[in-house]
Amino acid sequence: MKEENEKHIAWHSSYITREDRERSNGHRSCILWLTGLSGSGKSTLAAAIEKELYRQQCRSYILDGDNLRHGINRDLGFDPEDRSENIRRIGELAKLLADAGMITIVAAISPYRQDRDNVRAVCKPGDFVEVYVQCTVEECERRDPKGLYKKVRSGEIKHFTGISAPYEPPLQAELVLRTDELTVSDSVIEVMSYIRSRQLDRASLEKEMES
Ligand code: ADX
Repeated sequence: MKEENEKHIAWHSSYITREDRERSNGHRSCILWLTGLSGSGKSTLAAAIEKELYRQQCRSYILDGDNLRHGINRDLGFDPEDRSENIRRIGELAKLLADAGMITIVAAISPYRQDRDNVRAVCKPGDFVEVYVQCTVEECERRDPKGLYKKVRSGEIKHFTGISAPYEPPLQAELVLRTDELTVSDSVIEVMSYIRSRQLDRASLEKEMES
């Protein structure tokens, strides 16, 4: 932040707290941060998780790296600095949405461990749930849902994650989903059981409010 700005801005609090919003939603919020190679299944999984959360009457919202690059992050490219800024901004958006009571699902390659750790560090403890969407680069290239690997091989795309740019896998992800072994619904079941184990779901909040 520019120093002169930092000196002259305040923090305004509101009457309604995150806990109030969580109570009226009937469940807790958090950030499910899906990281992994292009083609590993992040967006597919995010959509499937969102559908299941909706079915369970939980409020959620997806922040998809590709989609955000059409708008708020349209000024950013794919060099390490821009990717860091991309992740920082997505992290700030995710924080706001979690504060608004949403189960926030992020789907972004987020290839650098430090960038993901920085987001974790600015989140409320426990909010940042790192989900490693693990898939071999060979399988991602075989799937090639957007035809990008083909473009990489023909030299049209440079600095592509997993091929000509680094991907640093999480060392201690809260969840690891092997999408080359699990079906989408198996992965969704794993995520939902994690949410229950953390007592973020509707039934847990109901029980908590009764006691
Ligand atoms: S991140 O690395 O900064 O986290 P983000 O998830 O926002 O990436 O965007 C990745 C998407 O941008 C990919 O799914 C792909 O569609 C597209 N893309 C274009 N160029 C590249 C590249 N060089 N490396 C990775 N993804 C790229």
